[in-house]
Amino acid sequence: MSYSLSIIGCGYVGCVTGVCFADMGNEVTLVDVDSDKVDFINEGRSPIYEPGLEALMQKNRERVRATTNLRAAIHDTDITFVAVGTPSNADGSIDLTYVFRVCEEIGEVLREKEDFHIVIIKSTVFPGTTDDRVRHILEYTSGKKAGVDFGLGSNPEFLREGNAVHDFLSPDRIVIGADDPRTADALKALYASIDSRVLVASSRTAEMIKYTSNAILATKISFANEIGNLCKTIGIDSGDVFLGVGMDSRVSPAFFRTGIGFGGSCFPKDVRALVAGARAHGEDLSILDAVLKTNETQPLRLLALLKKHIPDLDGKTIGVLGLAFKPDTDDIRESRALPVITGLLSSGAGVIAYDPAAMDNFRRVFPQITYASSAGAVLEADAVLILTEWKEFEDLDYHGRIVIDGRRLEAPRRQAAIYEGVCW
Ligand code: UDX
Repeated sequence: MSYSLSIIGCGYVGCVTGVCFADMGNEVTLVDVDSDKVDFINEGRSPIYEPGLEALMQKNRERVRATTNLRAAIHDTDITFVAVGTPSNADGSIDLTYVFRVCEEIGEVLREKEDFHIVIIKSTVFPGTTDDRVRHILEYTSGKKAGVDFGLGSNPEFLREGNAVHDFLSPDRIVIGADDPRTADALKALYASIDSRVLVASSRTAEMIKYTSNAILATKISFANEIGNLCKTIGIDSGDVFLGVGMDSRVSPAFFRTGIGFGGSCFPKDVRALVAGARAHGEDLSILDAVLKTNETQPLRLLALLKKHIPDLDGKTIGVLGLAFKPDTDDIRESRALPVITGLLSSGAGVIAYDPAAMDNFRRVFPQITYASSAGAVLEADAVLILTEWKEFEDLDYHGRIVIDGRRLEAPRRQAAIYEGVCW
């Protein structure tokens, strides 16, 4: 069964979702307010850095189109996915302005539309948002009833940057949040060609599954880092410890890699939003508070290790390998490189940095540092910090260097004259 779909928001989630649905045989209209992005997509180019996405876009060119005309897109399609951005407020809570604004417009189109249209929230929102504010806005602007005159649900994504196409087409599970059977059935049919476990729940539960999934993974990382800090102090390799711990079938070995912590567009923001949203409901999520605190202090540990070997950084040049929040992406959102470089500059150090993909993005935030044209040039600095585990950094020659490693690489550990790992 194929559908005609509109996806509102051509960011990371919207683009991947749209192109993958097209690859599954559906007709997809991507919608964005940014006409440059729309033109880009209509030329068959991907507006985001994601391996495999542009090729899939080219393959499905006749089934993917983009437009700035939201109303026409809703009008001409059966199901609409809302995948607009959800930035953070100053207190860490989630800013849902864009989601609500888009829903107002959708509601106005639904007022005129005859057939049973389905609206699905893909953006990550606080549990209860779809069933509460979104439902209210859509019903008010359309004059119709959710579950009766139109369908409403939530369908969270679990896409890793750099692996998003694979994660979409071969997921561990598909979570369908629907409060009416027609919406649940339509989403089940839409995903029918994907071989995966499918969980159908209320929209509220689906939203909570998304937040809880990110929270448990972030918790594993901060927990591993806390144990890793102790391991370093008493001379134990935390990698060996988590190898052993991960062999317990009740504990997956994933997300136990110790170092300078997690970044990216999801973990920090979603955990903060969960903590802030819980607080607004009178619940204190103290474990997740600690997860965030540990994540803030890990990069400072790397700076402390550097100062152990070079106490006065004033006038020194420090080399930085890796600026992206993780390998295989150009994304620097919440990258641990941000606090590390801020710390270096405030200690008076000069910085020479290299990243295979993220230097253009980083230059906009830190124009004052030097960007090297190769990883090798960074090694000439007074000391080298490793902040992202890009594969190519394993192939460098670290002999004679001072290396402080935030990401557990093997080569510098074996070769460097002085080597310190944050958790080993
Ligand atoms: C994550 C989730 O994996 C995905 O399901 C969700 O939808 C969005 O957030 P992503 O942000 O792309 O995906 O990155 P991920 O690969 O999960 O890594 C997040 C951060 O954790 C990175 O900064 C990474 O370096 C760090 N990390 C990961 C560790 O520090 N240790 C680990 O063991 C694993």
